[in-house]
Amino acid sequence: MTIMKIDNLVAMTSQIEIRDNQLLISGRQAQDLTERFGSPLYLYSEEVIRKSCRKLKEAMGFPGLSLHYSAKANSNISILKIMREEGFGMDAVSPGEIAIGLKAGFFPEQIIFISNNITTEEFNFAVKNRIDVSVNSFGQLELFGRRFPGGRIAVRINPGIGAGHHQKVITGGTKTKFGVDLAQVEEIKAIASRYDLHICGLNTHIGSNFLNCKSYLKAATILCQVAEGFPELEYLDLGGGLGISYQGGGSSLDLMRMGRALERLYVDFTRRYGRRVRFIMEPGRYPVAESGVLLTTVTDLKRNPQRSFIGTDAGFNVLLRPSLYNAYHEIINCGNIKGPLEPFDICGNICETGDILAAEAPMPLTQIADTLAILDVGAYGYAMASNYNSRPRPAEVLIQTNGEFRLIRKRDRLEDLLENQLAA
Ligand code: LLP
Repeated sequence: MTIMKIDNLVAMTSQIEIRDNQLLISGRQAQDLTERFGSPLYLYSEEVIRKSCRKLKEAMGFPGLSLHYSAKANSNISILKIMREEGFGMDAVSPGEIAIGLKAGFFPEQIIFISNNITTEEFNFAVKNRIDVSVNSFGQLELFGRRFPGGRIAVRINPGIGAGHHQKVITGGTKTKFGVDLAQVEEIKAIASRYDLHICGLNTHIGSNFLNCKSYLKAATILCQVAEGFPELEYLDLGGGLGISYQGGGSSLDLMRMGRALERLYVDFTRRYGRRVRFIMEPGRYPVAESGVLLTTVTDLKRNPQRSFIGTDAGFNVLLRPSLYNAYHEIINCGNIKGPLEPFDICGNICETGDILAAEAPMPLTQIADTLAILDVGAYGYAMASNYNSRPRPAEVLIQTNGEFRLIRKRDRLEDLLENQLAA
């Protein structure tokens, strides 16, 4: 029998269960929730987020390592507050994320702005808010140095190694825009000394959603080697990328093994460096991905001679990952979870052929007005949603640990689509 991802979710939280072949979410049918909050709808389980955080903390829990949540995965302020309560710092990629992070209660010193290709105004914003910035190139280091001589700055290193679930998310190696090439590291020192900059950290990030930590460890080792040439460091930020298995029964990352290897590296590096330098990791996907479910309503069924289609109200403006990366997300029919299967292309309502949630997905008997649940959408789901085709983005709801539903972002209204437009 095939193992389904939904069974995995049910095992993680008592608030999501299967009864009489139906999905119950904190005792409610999925359809009740879309009726109450609108369809499509992003739902997150606070319990699953906290469990995933604790797994990370348990595996990486050696003194000397801090976990920073990479807010780009899901920057809802209520999610950020949970991450803060769990003891995470934060990796921000923009002034917008810094602003949300501060509002969520993170202290400035808990946030690092891992920037790329930013403007002087963005540097100003970070410095004004007392946030450390990591730069991505010599040009950006110069720009910072000219504006803030004597300032503190971190620099991103490209360790020449990449990893990730798709070419588009591999951020280490020669083909990416990220970081200073290993062969050019010495130049950092020259620029830093020209502007009297304090290099407080080095960082790297090799890519997203790896299930084997070998490349990560290799990159971390390289970063440590580079670090030996920088005597004033306060931290080494090894990046994120820790993957989850989107497939039921798929292999998963051996976190405990990864934690032990990092601890060995930390001990070894500290000995060679001569003093303690904090290690930081920046997981984004891992703590939130599995907590998220996207509910969508079936709006059409079409059986063509060659192919059958399920039409839904969730286009790629709501969930982009399948269209952009061919990413797999398990999709279940909330009212008929296990039954005889038939292949369908599950699509949204966007006017593009690429608007597809799953190709030839085996689905049990499905009818118009059924509610489907798309799993593992807590990371890079809402965060990548847009108003393409002038469609409102959905609401987000948190299933609190006490079982209550809390609306944590309203669905866009049609007025919102017009808000910034200036009619002649
Ligand atoms: N640190 C830096 C500097 C990053 O650029 C990223 C992600 C992370 C940490 C967190 O990586 P994570 O632990 O979430 O893998 N939209 C893609 C993923 C893009 C990741 C971008 N950078 C997806 O949906 O798969």
